[in-house]
Amino acid sequence: MADVLNIKNLKVIFRTGETFVRAVEGVDIRIGEGERVAIVGESGCGKSVTSLACMRLLTTPPAYIAADEFTFTSSDGTVHNLLEKSESEMLALRAEEMAMIFQDPSTFLNPVMTIGEQLDEVFVYHLHMKPKEARRHSIEMMKKVGIPDPEMRAEQYPHELSGGLKQRILIAMATSLSPRLLIADEPTTALDVTIQAQILALISERCEKEKMSLLMITHDLGVVREMADRVYVMYCGKIVEEGTVDEILDHPLHPYTKALIDTVPGVEEKVERFVQIPHNVPHPSNKPQGCYFSNRCAYCTELCKKKQPPLVSKESGRYVRCYYGTEELWEK
Ligand SMILES: Nc1ncnc2c1ncn2[C@@H]1O[C@H](COP(=O)(O)OP(=O)(O)OP(=O)(O)O)[C@@H](O)[C@H]1O
Ligand SMILES: [Mg+2]
Repeated sequence: MADVLNIKNLKVIFRTGETFVRAVEGVDIRIGEGERVAIVGESGCGKSVTSLACMRLLTTPPAYIAADEFTFTSSDGTVHNLLEKSESEMLALRAEEMAMIFQDPSTFLNPVMTIGEQLDEVFVYHLHMKPKEARRHSIEMMKKVGIPDPEMRAEQYPHELSGGLKQRILIAMATSLSPRLLIADEPTTALDVTIQAQILALISERCEKEKMSLLMITHDLGVVREMADRVYVMYCGKIVEEGTVDEILDHPLHPYTKALIDTVPGVEEKVERFVQIPHNVPHPSNKPQGCYFSNRCAYCTELCKKKQPPLVSKESGRYVRCYYGTEELWEK
């Protein structure tokens, strides 16, 4: 069976006046059937832009998208070239085949429509159901995502629901038509820590039940460990490391991945001080000349400052963009 998503050399450039911002610079990503893939990296490294490009939710101008390959394979085996789809074709694909949930559910719920009306619309619009039948399905979906007293909740407006319940509604909307791919962009960062685990568990359960593939966008390595089979580490618009979740988290090869891991304090460890990666992610219009991580890297050499390292294959499915990317580096 073909990969659900296949992206080769994706580039996204924003143009504002005479300024060009290269937000995504030649990214390769593939997601297999039923696979759970994470993109991890700090703020501003291009995670959201990549996921929005997949959904074709970036408007041109200012965003310009190019790729050597950019295909989505739907449940019936049809291969869709996402770059060539019309907006109406994308409307059908979104929701029915590829759905997305975002960090802040409030912005995606209509404040003047009840929760029930908004869920009903999915079934009326996509499955052409009559209102009563649609409502029955909405209530059923609300039960599936663990909303207590769904009949009562269906009559309420978004402001009457907590953040966690709103995110459950969004998950219900996104997964009600059993899409083949679910993209979740930081779906728990706006929520209380105690609710986060419940929402992650719900996303996992929905993916398993509906046999959906998952693209999880996060800066949180705990979420990666919990939710992903395979991981892409992204920095300054480029993939710097790729591997299985155990390879990436237990045997990182790129100094950036290692630094990300080192900044997470263990629960049982007594934290003397927070470990930080020095400096900030450079703005896309001001990236270093050589390796983009060179100005923050503890292992940087003259070569790193001069020339961008290529993404090289270490072993099957394992890639790293560093001249010195081996575990021996950490001994130095
Ligand atoms: N509409 C836009 N116009 C110009 N630049 C943009 C636009 N949208 C995003 N960018 C730039 O693209 C880069 C990548 O942004 P993106 O939102 O993908 O980061 P991210 O990895 O999702 O970060 P975060 O963790 O903060 O969500 C950023 O430097 C951002 O300033
Ligand atoms: Mg983002």
